[in-house]
Amino acid sequence: MNIPPPLERLLYFKEKLGIDDNDFSRLGLLSGIAQLEKEAFSSWLYDYFFEIPHTRAVLEHETYDDRLKRTWADWFSSLFDVRDQQKFVTRHWKSGLKHVQSGVDHRYVNMAYGLVRRYIGRMVLEHRDIEDSEGLLKIIDKVLDLCILIETDAFITSTTQCDHEVIKGIAHQVRNPLTVIGGNLMLLQKKTPGQDPRKKIYDTMLLEASRLERMVKNVVTYNEVFQREPEPVKCLVRAFLQDAIDLIAPQKLKGKVDIDLDESCPEVSADQNDFKAILFHLLQNAYEAVVDSKNPLIKINSHLNPSITGYLDIEIFNNGDLPRPDDIDQMFTPFFSTKSMGTGFGLPIVKLAARKNNGNFKISLVPDQGVLCVVTLPC
Ligand code: HEM
Repeated sequence: MNIPPPLERLLYFKEKLGIDDNDFSRLGLLSGIAQLEKEAFSSWLYDYFFEIPHTRAVLEHETYDDRLKRTWADWFSSLFDVRDQQKFVTRHWKSGLKHVQSGVDHRYVNMAYGLVRRYIGRMVLEHRDIEDSEGLLKIIDKVLDLCILIETDAFITSTTQCDHEVIKGIAHQVRNPLTVIGGNLMLLQKKTPGQDPRKKIYDTMLLEASRLERMVKNVVTYNEVFQREPEPVKCLVRAFLQDAIDLIAPQKLKGKVDIDLDESCPEVSADQNDFKAILFHLLQNAYEAVVDSKNPLIKINSHLNPSITGYLDIEIFNNGDLPRPDDIDQMFTPFFSTKSMGTGFGLPIVKLAARKNNGNFKISLVPDQGVLCVVTLPC
């Protein structure tokens, strides 16, 4: 599997861990010692995993022995000789993919990084003449954390890619016949006189077909949000909200939506498609909850998040039918829905899209009043 490295994301990990260029060059102080130690290290690691039946099966499966020891030895010395950071992150991305391809359980790779930490800790302590060994060990910790993040990212990306291709294929295969079924049902329904008992049956079938159609659409959106790397741009909250209202049904929502936005912070930084999906599903959710209520009300407001600087909270409140408190946690599970015509994908899409855009999403009950959804995004 040859998935190109998402360089921007991988270098973002580096930034978040607070690793700077100086850190890599300071590790160069240990390169001489690492050269001397690299073979001892790789043999030690190999022997360790040869003792564990699960990993021995992988190591014995092909005659990796010397080749793998050489690979690990080179990797060990390269940790202390990083000249090109893109190459460094790409190498770890590739090794993550290679591990998946070779059937190495990711838990053992994590465990190996723990062993590497221990080994280097011992190595540094044994050489008493190393200056500022504590400072160097702190850098090693950060760099190994970066390796683990990249390996884990590669593992998740490659193992989920296949699932997502299958999901996409199923969605596509279901959508086409569904359109034909829906179209024919509509014809039959039109040709059937009003008093004919079959009319009710066609109505139900049409409703279920449209629910299925929405379900397929939502599965595709969820899949896309999961797979696509967000491309954040400045999004004007008011304009995106208006688009979402127009999409759902402006006439149905008229007079029921009360909007009060913080004009001092009119934009969020998010991927346009993700932000559209977030607002559409939140509004649809709110609309479905109030549709049968006597005094339907949807209130939308925004304000800067009181605890995290540079983040905007967009709150959507609705009255109407309240979910049971026990259902709240389940609402983020795909396919879980308390509504007869729900697909169980709206809130999972919102949560996933908010998280992928470095934000958050929360839902809570306002006793005796309604439901409050809060999406938090960088602004
Ligand atoms: C500190 C943790 C580890 C690091 C840094 C590491 C590093 C690497 C690297 C750099 C490669 C070569 C990737 C490529 O061809 O692009 C590799 C391959 C491989 N690793 Fe690891 N590895 C680690 C842990 C493990 C563990 C725990 C096992 C299993 C016991 C393992 C088994 C393998 C296998 C089977 C290959 C493929 C060898 C080949 O096709 O030549 N690795 N590893």
